Amino acid sequence: MRLAVKKAIFPVAGLGTRFLPATKAQPKEMLPVVDKPLIQYAVEEAYAAGVREMIFVTGRHKRPIEDHFDMTFELELALEQSGKRELLEVVRSIKPDDMECIYVRQAQALGLGHAVLCAQRLVGAEPFAVLLADDLMVGPAGGKPVLAQMVEQFDEWQASILAVQEVPAEHTRRYGIVAGHAVNDRLVDVTQMVEKPAPEQAPSRLGVAGRYILTAGVMREIAAQPRGVGGEIQLTDGIASLLRREKVFAYRYDGKRYDCGSKEGFLEANVELALVHPELGPGFREFLRGLEL
Ligand code: G1P
Repeated sequence: MRLAVKKAIFPVAGLGTRFLPATKAQPKEMLPVVDKPLIQYAVEEAYAAGVREMIFVTGRHKRPIEDHFDMTFELELALEQSGKRELLEVVRSIKPDDMECIYVRQAQALGLGHAVLCAQRLVGAEPFAVLLADDLMVGPAGGKPVLAQMVEQFDEWQASILAVQEVPAEHTRRYGIVAGHAVNDRLVDVTQMVEKPAPEQAPSRLGVAGRYILTAGVMREIAAQPRGVGGEIQLTDGIASLLRREKVFAYRYDGKRYDCGSKEGFLEANVELALVHPELGPGFREFLRGLEL
């Protein structure tokens, strides 16, 4: 039987300390890039890849995420009564009828691996995607979004797929780094994976971006991990252990990643996405041209 990716995990319990003070009283995943919160970009990317079951691993202070994907009866009624059909559509399309949202709490911030493990019973024996919302991924203009590209690879190989990009040597400490044998221009058969190595210890410069498709077997591996880098239960360590039993591929995605967990990446995403926004783009371009830089 061929497996299909129908479920996605969104670990959203993190504190967002890199983005203080903005994230003191609101989830970092609710920071808007142009006119949409980060989490909505990630959910839309999953939906476009055929995922219908969205599993949010949340924590305290993350209620706005649940509210965002819930029906807002008063707002919808008000928009309907005032004839604002377009805005009503914008609000309703946040959660299409065939999309299911499930929330599970991560009571303690014990790391990304631990967050994923919190959804173990919900994914069961099925493969699943993991999307880190603060990595905003933009596919090529007119082409497939990044997770949809990865699902295509999963459909072909029926094995775990990790999104990777070449990173500067001095940045290996920020990423899970993989190494292996090239299968083709985009795909690497992974033989090694290390979380946040120093440049001199890094087995390559292929850094994992916040998109994964994993087989259910990874859950058992994560559960068996001791605490890793930063005293946290690392997803990377679980995948490194899965490598000994199953094939894992790294996929050089076609697209661009904005690290919206950092202030610089967030600003870059806002500028670039505003420039291509159908309504705001032309005016914003004019505005930027007029700035004396
Ligand atoms: C996490 C992962 C890391 C990955 C990164 C991508 O790190 O642990 O392997 O490369 O996301 O954004 P974090 O950025 O949460 O520290």
